Amino acid sequence: MPIQHAETIIDNLNGSRPATVHVANLHFRYPDGTLALNGVSLQVAHGEKVALVGPNGAGKSTLMLHLNGLLQGEGNVEVGGLSLTKEHLPLIRGKVGMVFQNPDDQLFSPTVFDDVAFGPLHMGLPEEEVRKRVQNALAHVGMSDAASRLSHHLSIGQKKRVAIATVLSMDAEILALDEPSAGLDPRARRSLIGLLRELPLTMLVSTHDMMMVRELFARTIVMDGGRVVADGDTATILADQALLEAHGLELMV
Ligand SMILES: Nc1ncnc2c1ncn2[C@@H]1O[C@H](COP(=O)(O)OP(=O)(O)O)[C@@H](O)[C@H]1O
Ligand SMILES: [Mg+2]
Repeated sequence: MPIQHAETIIDNLNGSRPATVHVANLHFRYPDGTLALNGVSLQVAHGEKVALVGPNGAGKSTLMLHLNGLLQGEGNVEVGGLSLTKEHLPLIRGKVGMVFQNPDDQLFSPTVFDDVAFGPLHMGLPEEEVRKRVQNALAHVGMSDAASRLSHHLSIGQKKRVAIATVLSMDAEILALDEPSAGLDPRARRSLIGLLRELPLTMLVSTHDMMMVRELFARTIVMDGGRVVADGDTATILADQALLEAHGLELMV
C-alpha cells in the first residue's frame, strides 16, 4: 500500500495517533470582561486536518490565539507534548504557525522576500539557509515569482498565500489558520483549497466556508458561546440540520 494512502487511512481514524494539540477545560476572559472561552476541550492528532466552525463570536479566533500563547487563559494547553508555559513558549511558537484572518496583520516588511525571511532571520539562521527556506516556502504557495514584489501591493489571495509562506519558512508543524478563504474570489479560493490539501501538516482551520469544510476536512469541531458543541466526522455533522441551524451554520448547495 502506498505510504500516502496508509497515512490517509490513519488520518481518518480520529485520535489513533498521539494528540499533538491538547486543550483541556480552557477558559478565557478579555480584559473588558467578555467571557470568550468557557471550558473548551479538544484534541488534534498529528497529521490531522480539522475544521473549526461556529457563528461570529463563538470563540474560534480566541481559541486559536491560545495555541501559540498569544493569549493565555485558565486551563491546559499542550502542543507537541509540551505544556504551554513561559519556559516552552519559544519552542511552541516554532511549532505552531498562526495565520491571521487579515494578512495585513501578518505582512509588514517592504517585500515579500523580507516578510517570509523575517521568522528564519529572527531564529538566527545563516543567510544561505534563510534564502533556501524562503524559496521553498514561496514555491509551496505558488508565489516564487513574487519574492521581490511589495507585499502591500498584492491581491488579498496573494497576501494570504504569502502569510502562509511566512509560517512555512519557520518550519511549523501545526498550522492554525483563521478564516483563510474569507474574502477570496472563486479562483483564489480554489487554489487555496488545493494548497491546504497538499500541505502535509497538522491543521486547525476556522471557517464559515462550509463547502470547503465538506471538501477538505474529515473532521469538524463546532463551537458556540465559548464552548465546543459538537466534534466529529464532517459528513455526520453536515447532515445534522438541527445542529447546523441551532448554531447559525448553513450548508449552501
Ligand atoms: N479584543 C477583544 N476584547 C474584548 N472582547 C473580544 C475581543 N476579541 C473578541 N472578543 C469577544 O470574544 C468573543 C469571542 O470572539 P472571537 O474569538 O473573535 O470569536 P469568533 O472568532 O468565533 O468570531 C466574542 O464575544 C467577541 O466579541
Ligand atoms: Mg474569528
